[in-house]
Amino acid sequence: MNNREQWGSRLGFILAASGSAVGLGNIWKYPHMAGQNGGAAFTVVYLICILIVGLPILLGELAIGRNTQLSPVGAFNKLSGLSKWKWVGFLGVASAFVILSFYGVVGGWTLKYTILALSGGFDALSGQPDISGKVFSDFIGSSFQPVIWQLIFMSFCIGIIIKGVKSGIESGAKIMMPLILVILGLLVFKGLSLEGGKKGLEFLFKPKFSDLNPSSIVMALGHAFFTLSLGMGTMITYGSYLDKKQNLFSSAIWVILLDTFIAMLAGTAIFTIVFAMGADPSAGAGLIFVVLPTIFPQIGGGVIWGALFFFILFMAALTSAISILEVITAYFVDEKGWSRNKATLLFGGVISLVGVFCSLSLGDFNITNFMQVSFFDFLDELSSKYMLPIGGALTALFILKKWSIPVFLDELLIGVKERKYEKSFYQNVLKICLIISSLIVGLIIINEVFDLLFDQSLQKMAGF
Ligand code: PFF
Repeated sequence: MNNREQWGSRLGFILAASGSAVGLGNIWKYPHMAGQNGGAAFTVVYLICILIVGLPILLGELAIGRNTQLSPVGAFNKLSGLSKWKWVGFLGVASAFVILSFYGVVGGWTLKYTILALSGGFDALSGQPDISGKVFSDFIGSSFQPVIWQLIFMSFCIGIIIKGVKSGIESGAKIMMPLILVILGLLVFKGLSLEGGKKGLEFLFKPKFSDLNPSSIVMALGHAFFTLSLGMGTMITYGSYLDKKQNLFSSAIWVILLDTFIAMLAGTAIFTIVFAMGADPSAGAGLIFVVLPTIFPQIGGGVIWGALFFFILFMAALTSAISILEVITAYFVDEKGWSRNKATLLFGGVISLVGVFCSLSLGDFNITNFMQVSFFDFLDELSSKYMLPIGGALTALFILKKWSIPVFLDELLIGVKERKYEKSFYQNVLKICLIISSLIVGLIIINEVFDLLFDQSLQKMAGF
């Protein structure tokens, strides 16, 4: 266990962990969710969820990882004395399989659109959302092209993970995260300088609480998990490569700040451009792949701005995808004694194969046809609505019931130089937050299950 690889520096760890958090969730999912659910009102609820539910579970995962120096299955096993809690770890490994299978497909789309933008391919789509919509659906529904792009994306992912924690994940994050920040900053600057762009700011930051409904609240909560990469042991795995010198609390705050800041920057860049060009801000999931390609050609230097935008989307997807693959690799290395190369190549390959079925399901070949849903959507819903929240709630319960709050706090306090209050104060705060998170998440899951089984959810009962 002594030769376990560790992060090279505190900055490296923070960039890697925020690289995991910042992904398609921030740049693709968040802006269209906010766009369709009351703009800033949604943002306010989402921020509250991040602080009340996200922060305590993020701290919990990091502390479990650092304390045990093991990936999720081994970590739960060690802390619970080989009891059934290890299944929470297995759930994490299973979630990683499920998420990366469809995440890799969208990662492939980001690469394709980067190249399309660079080659001037958006020109023919200028101002024509219908044509752009058709180009996009023809592309994702075809059998060959998206699969090739997905496989290229997965090869990048496998290539980085094979190199290991320091020279792979950390070095990658040190290059890609600053690039994402700088390019997004430039895009925001460009968007704000366009005439009419500032209306986008109002849309994103002025709260309209009348537009908020119970289903947006459920959505904001689910998204808080997804965006912080919680509920499947990613942060346990990343925490397990930490030494005992670091202040976990301030690192977690950094990860949350960077994740939120980048989501806001992405929202600002997108909505200032959308408003300046008079496009539809509530276009949904197609906002990025359908609407944006129609407006980039209309702004000066559109080829470069368009390519840069999809390139940061690609980098954001990649820094997240590697963290998902690392959960699986670390399991086989820690628990089965496999070499990093063998685990990464074999399971990166298996996931790529499942991803091929995911991609094909958007065209003619859908193995979940009998459920009236594409295999792609099935995996997306299964993970973000059920697996991650259940994993997160179980992690909170594990800390409350098994590991115990005082031991958790002691782990958190390692590396903290001075503390303002008595230990009992922190213990109470942690306890209350974890109880609230598990209760809220439990409620959401029950709500979703009711909706699934009886077509009856709180939102529907309230008439939304
Ligand atoms: N946080 C990533 C995003 O916002 O796109 C998605 C993700 C990565 C979820 C890693 C879960 C995970 F373990």
